[in-house]
Amino acid sequence: MTSSDIRKAYISFFVKRGHKEITPSPLVPENDPTTLFTSSGMQPLVPYLLGEKHPQGTRLVDSQRSFRAQDIEEVGDNRHTTFFEMLGNWSLGDYFKKEQLTWFFEFLTKVLKLDSNKLYVSVFEGNKDIPRDIESASIWKNLGISDDRIFYYPASKNWWSRSGPPEKMPVGEPGGPSSEVFYDFGTQHSNAFGQKCHPNCDCGRFIEIGNSVFMEYKKTESGVEKLSQKNVDFGGGLERLTMAVASEPDIFKTDIFYPIINQIEKTSGKNYIDNLNKKAMRVIADHLKASIFMIADGVLPSNKTQGYTLRRLIRRSIVYCKDLGIVNGVDIIRAVVPAVVNIYKDYYSYLSAKQQQITLVLEEEALKFSKTLEKGLREIEKTEKIDGKIAFKIYETFGFPWEMTQELVHKRGDTIDRTEFEREFEKHKQLSRSTSSGMFKGGLADHSVETTKLHTATHLLHAALRKVLGVHISQKGSHITDKRLRFDFSHPQKMTNEEIKTVEELINQQINKNLPVTFTIMSYKDAVAKGALAFFSEKYQDKVKVYTIGPANAGWFSKEVCGGPHVDFTSKLGSFRIIKEESAASGVRRIYAVVNN
Ligand code: ALA
Repeated sequence: MTSSDIRKAYISFFVKRGHKEITPSPLVPENDPTTLFTSSGMQPLVPYLLGEKHPQGTRLVDSQRSFRAQDIEEVGDNRHTTFFEMLGNWSLGDYFKKEQLTWFFEFLTKVLKLDSNKLYVSVFEGNKDIPRDIESASIWKNLGISDDRIFYYPASKNWWSRSGPPEKMPVGEPGGPSSEVFYDFGTQHSNAFGQKCHPNCDCGRFIEIGNSVFMEYKKTESGVEKLSQKNVDFGGGLERLTMAVASEPDIFKTDIFYPIINQIEKTSGKNYIDNLNKKAMRVIADHLKASIFMIADGVLPSNKTQGYTLRRLIRRSIVYCKDLGIVNGVDIIRAVVPAVVNIYKDYYSYLSAKQQQITLVLEEEALKFSKTLEKGLREIEKTEKIDGKIAFKIYETFGFPWEMTQELVHKRGDTIDRTEFEREFEKHKQLSRSTSSGMFKGGLADHSVETTKLHTATHLLHAALRKVLGVHISQKGSHITDKRLRFDFSHPQKMTNEEIKTVEELINQQINKNLPVTFTIMSYKDAVAKGALAFFSEKYQDKVKVYTIGPANAGWFSKEVCGGPHVDFTSKLGSFRIIKEESAASGVRRIYAVVNN
């Protein structure tokens, strides 16, 4: 079975068991300004895991392209990559442990035909607030996993939330105990990783191929409490499942990577087998693949946020190209892009359509960096002592990643400490974070009570603007925090004071009428036919949620296709006030407003 067969088989396995296949998110999450990249399948589903109704139902499945920046420096061993696909299935308050573990086991042993003797599992050992997961252990035992292949671990290994173990979770975050499955590749254990090998040992013998999270908890001020529903959040790395099926302990030798490695071999004239070349080839293959997917999802190299990560990936690949004797990286790009497009062309057909554009973006960045690369090298040559601070300056001025400067410093027999570099980097990151609100094209900063009120206020504002200024008004962007809403809309001129006052009054009237805010689920076509505002039609699925403010059938004030959340009655807003009206771009106005009760 190829990686492509495995993806197909997984989705159809769960569709047969009542799951709806949902459209995965792009790599840059929509409506989630808290994070730069989609890094797991559950990320777009957080509101539904917390109890919102999902328009597609309670059983969902997909394959989510994901990127984990924290793994950039891990790339180079047999299994770490920054870009990967997470096969995911979810129960939103529907089935729980028994069905999940049984189905996953069935998928592994019957569909993928993995030898069950090579499977090891882990379960949560429990802590003072959450019981030991003997239920999962007993399900595994009944499925035929013997006691010596069932391991109990603490929260650091067998608890999953977006922010890690319970003590690291922010209040309101969902999480739960998890049960992981590992595949035993039978490779030699090295004592460098500890005396005894076990599933969570880092020697590379055991590789995690799936994680079932029993997401039934939510963080509170004092600990955790049960959510209103018991969820399952499963994630399994497609690449790692492919390794297990192929019995191949090197991820870069599976069909999802090897054609890329082949192209790097051809272009450099060097062999992957040679250990001297392995790390460089693995980094180039991973980083360029991730870059290709990012560019396809609309990211461009820059000095900020997602664009900055992309720049770092491309530049790091170019540095590694130099190790292989490749001068400017353009030859590699021309060889690797078609290989990546070819691996993924069935499932990600949009890659072929964007191939030319992707190549151009990569080439431009590679050429730009090649120029500063030489200048940076000269700067390093003529600087006598390079400390962390200077290394950061070189990074900033010439775009040299830390590893490259470190390597050059080591080559001339000097040492360099990373702490200072990190300190400077952190300062820079904070600065870019504080200046990055330009990235929030839409969405809610969180789902707190205040943000939710302002979200409902945004719907009232949208409707009121159309009534006062005309139906040419359409939403161009929105960003809501717990302090204020920001709403961008198409309108050719500045609003007069009179218009602003009329809009405010109209909204306050709706608040005083205490209108109900309700939603119904219907097809996208019906929603539009009923007059619901929906300006981003391409991103909606077959079934959508439509929020109505006012009577549901006739005489409503606002109707919009939207995922929520909203308040239940408009009086919860107290009152509404526009604090600023300004130009956002040519033909686009921007309003900042607040509510108060
Ligand atoms: N969300 C879980 C993970 O990323 C499944 O491992």
